[in-house]
Amino acid sequence: MSRTRVAILISGGGSNMLALARDMVDPGHPGTACLVLSNRPDAGGLARAAELGIATAVVDHRGFADRAGFEAAMMAPLRASGAEVVCLAGFMRVLTPGFIAQWTGRMLNIHPSILPLFPGLHTHAQCLAAGMAVHGCTVHEVTPDLDAGPILGQAVVPVAADDTDETLAARVLPLEHRLYPAVLRRFLAGNRAPLALFPEG
Ligand code: GRF
Repeated sequence: MSRTRVAILISGGGSNMLALARDMVDPGHPGTACLVLSNRPDAGGLARAAELGIATAVVDHRGFADRAGFEAAMMAPLRASGAEVVCLAGFMRVLTPGFIAQWTGRMLNIHPSILPLFPGLHTHAQCLAAGMAVHGCTVHEVTPDLDAGPILGQAVVPVAADDTDETLAARVLPLEHRLYPAVLRRFLAGNRAPLALFPEG
């Protein structure tokens, strides 16, 4: 069985990238990590990917006058790696419809809220401000509308009365690391039915 070549885009520590990459070390996984690409040269995830023997590349967005130029530069290492699917994992640049159109149906993202609630940034603060009893994360297909593509999986956690942005983020992140690998396996096997995940125990 040929394994689908998966590129992972990061901007920082890459904890979700690491969860995906570690899961793809399994030779029975339908995908294989072919590239970790960062827009920031100082992204901690680059060294973590290299430790796993995964090819890495940096395309520093600050070196380009516009988004189109930056995205065209990203396409070079993506094509060279043979990437067939792209996973955004803590990637903090908004992508243009032109770039997204080249990956229609083949690009995933993880967002730290139960979409369509709380798109955009500061999702944990938005959740606390709304007085939610639950929070979580969503893996979705990437479409030109930010944080609005078809939902592929969601994980839910309770919100505690004394939660802060930080404590809530710390409760959600481990579930992200379970949800994204589980969804990627299903997605690569052709299963796009949304997966629901709950805290263990
Ligand atoms: C996480 O909250 C994730 O949901 C969002 O970016 C944050 C950092 O992700 N996409 P990572 O630790 O860099 O994977």
